[in-house]
Amino acid sequence: MSNPLDAAFDPEAFRALGHTVVDLLADRLGQDLVGKGLVRMDAAPEEEYAHWRKIMDSGSGGAGAFLEEFVERAIRLHHPRYMGHQVCGPAPLAALAGFVGEWLNNGMAVYEMGPGATALERWVIERTAALFGFEAGGGFLTSGGTLAMLTALLGARARKLGAGVLEYGSEPKWALLGSEQAHYCAGRAAHVMGWGRAGFVGVPVDEKFRMRVDLLERVYNETLASGRTPVAVVGSACTTSTGAYDDLRAVADFCERKDLWFHVDGAHGGAAAFCPELRGRLAGIERADSVILDFHKLLLTPALATAVIFRDAGASWAAFQQKAEYLWDASVQEEWFNVGRRTFECTKLSMSLKIAALWKVYGVEVFAENVRRVHANAERFARLVSGDSRFELAAWPESNIVCFRLKTVKEDEEAQDALQRDIRARCSGSGEFYIVQTVLNGRTWLRTALMNPFTSESDLADLLERIAELGCSPN
Ligand SMILES: Cc1ncc(COP(=O)(O)O)c(C=O)c1O
Repeated sequence: MSNPLDAAFDPEAFRALGHTVVDLLADRLGQDLVGKGLVRMDAAPEEEYAHWRKIMDSGSGGAGAFLEEFVERAIRLHHPRYMGHQVCGPAPLAALAGFVGEWLNNGMAVYEMGPGATALERWVIERTAALFGFEAGGGFLTSGGTLAMLTALLGARARKLGAGVLEYGSEPKWALLGSEQAHYCAGRAAHVMGWGRAGFVGVPVDEKFRMRVDLLERVYNETLASGRTPVAVVGSACTTSTGAYDDLRAVADFCERKDLWFHVDGAHGGAAAFCPELRGRLAGIERADSVILDFHKLLLTPALATAVIFRDAGASWAAFQQKAEYLWDASVQEEWFNVGRRTFECTKLSMSLKIAALWKVYGVEVFAENVRRVHANAERFARLVSGDSRFELAAWPESNIVCFRLKTVKEDEEAQDALQRDIRARCSGSGEFYIVQTVLNGRTWLRTALMNPFTSESDLADLLERIAELGCSPN
């Protein structure tokens, strides 16, 4: 090939590189699943930057070596000792479908730019809505839980405050209520809607980190007294830090009594709807006005792929209602197939393909089995922690998230917390495990999200031994 542009599009070079890359990843998957090698490398930001700058500044080079280097330094989410943040090691088929979607690059803001992805998106949303118990639900897929939360709440705002907000915006005299443990994206949505930080009002939690629904009335009245009117309540199903499920039935009762929008943040735990034995944790979700669910957390799909589902499909148009003459005819209402009318994104990749491919090939049971296994692992781990006098458990897990800490003779609370931070830094820093940490009631806890269905009981037992060892030899 004479010039780089022609070389970049050479079909045979593409074929050869594709085989090389799939071989690389398949080898890597084989090693990861049996826990060979480290979960992660611990390079400080400056070190990582220096590494890549050197490579990038050294002139052009081979594609295979470049991609291999990237893979080599990446975090290994398929490794059974990956127990860090809530992102899954995707199922290979879903990743390949993602590659196909990226290659095609069909934009799908409008139907004519992504017909297949639009149709599959409708299918995925309808099936998922049915699992939540919505008989006439509807919605769309969007880029992540944070954007999904904002989009759902923009819909809530338009429905509750009237279409005037689309013309004139809304004053900071409104508020959202939600648990103090709700993900920060609830507060961020209030902020983006122009209501400022005080636009999200936290409701205290009980000893299991669930919203104190018995205090909702009081918080509601205090919010009114402070000059703000609550518009919606966000129920967490489940929370990020500890995986606690709010009592959605009780929140639904409250919202009905006060005529508030009921939104469920099911970004993580909404996946329980796919597993018949765990579905009970979501009791009451069928009464929500809107729900979000990340397929990239517990449902084996590469990021980002989030469902935003409204109990009344008509509400899924409420957030934007925007004119764009070059894309759609504003006089035509509610065209389900021009997805960009309802999503924040204009151009959007075919995320439905990744989900639908798994569903088609392995059936809904593949999602159920993943959710089942990672929850069983959390139970297993909680039993190990609570049966070991060296450790304490923050709360019995309701999801696949377990928070715990090493007991210590240190009396000073700050020293105890510093020890947990030191353990977490060294445990994850060594690359043997990847765990994270959180703060609950002002104290530091070690936190594991058991995302990998191939994590075994011996991985969990080894983690506890390693932590105990690190605790005996603090830095
Ligand atoms: C409960 C909950 N809601 C929302 C989010 C935000 O989702 P995303 O990271 O996809 O933006 C998270 C992320 O961890 C979460 O745990």
